[in-house]
Amino acid sequence: MADGAGDPGPVPPGPTGRSPPTAQTRMNALWKFWDSSLGKKIVMAVTGLAGVGFVVGHMVGNLQMFAGAGAADAMHAYAKLLRTSMPLLWAVRAGLLACVVLHVTAALQLAARNRAARPQGYQQVTPQASTFASRTMLLGGILLVTFIVVHILDMTLGVAHPNFTHLDPYNNLVFGFQRPLMAAFYVLAMAALGAHLVHGAWASFRTLGLRKASERPLHRTIAVAVAIIVALGFMSVPIAVVIGALQPQGAASEMQASR
Ligand code: HEM
Repeated sequence: MADGAGDPGPVPPGPTGRSPPTAQTRMNALWKFWDSSLGKKIVMAVTGLAGVGFVVGHMVGNLQMFAGAGAADAMHAYAKLLRTSMPLLWAVRAGLLACVVLHVTAALQLAARNRAARPQGYQQVTPQASTFASRTMLLGGILLVTFIVVHILDMTLGVAHPNFTHLDPYNNLVFGFQRPLMAAFYVLAMAALGAHLVHGAWASFRTLGLRKASERPLHRTIAVAVAIIVALGFMSVPIAVVIGALQPQGAASEMQASR
């Protein structure tokens, strides 16, 4: 029905002779992109690089633990800065969650496709261009997802923490890492993060066409350097607590004043 009163009828072709895209054709194109293996790799690359940006910022923020007598104040100010605008914080949290969900879903689907493409399995696995990091991406990825869940229960919600005080991350970290097993779990997870970043950052450069597979790599050196700095930067906090270099402090002065 195209009587001018409801359904506007078929969309007239544009100047190129093709009909302009409708919401339906856009959805189809998006689905086709997601359904292709290249589309999934691009989604993994983009969401992975967003994750790298987050962990670099987070690691730098955590280094304020080493600010000496003012560390509890510095970490408190940092926690409050993150909460300057709750709508913005929730938007960032939702964006990060979407990145993790898309990244993990694409990884699992690509792994399942690879397995389905060789249902017999190899008689003998001979690693060639692969590296230790690339072969352990899936296992390391599963460890990292487990870490993120434990970490949020521990340091954000405080429900898995023995002595949690809202907005006092300095002391939350010190008391949290006085549990040697938890400190060891964090260090292990950060080693997995380093290995994951070495391969992942490099693979995403290639997927996004920033580097060709054969080229010998300044970018690879940068990926390795970033991975090592991020992993060691994160590990430094639990290690410093375990060896006694970081001790509990009085709560941030602003918190004491408001009591
Ligand atoms: C030794 C390593 C790490 C330490 C010491 C650490 C420390 C912390 C602390 C203290 C908080 C609470 C901040 C606050 O509530 O103000 C936090 C929150 C968080 N951390 Fe970490 N973190 C580490 C590694 C990581 C890694 C590797 C990731 C991600 C892959 C991560 C993801 C998060 C997330 C998503 C939050 C919640 C932020 C929010 O409230 O929305 N952390 N971390």
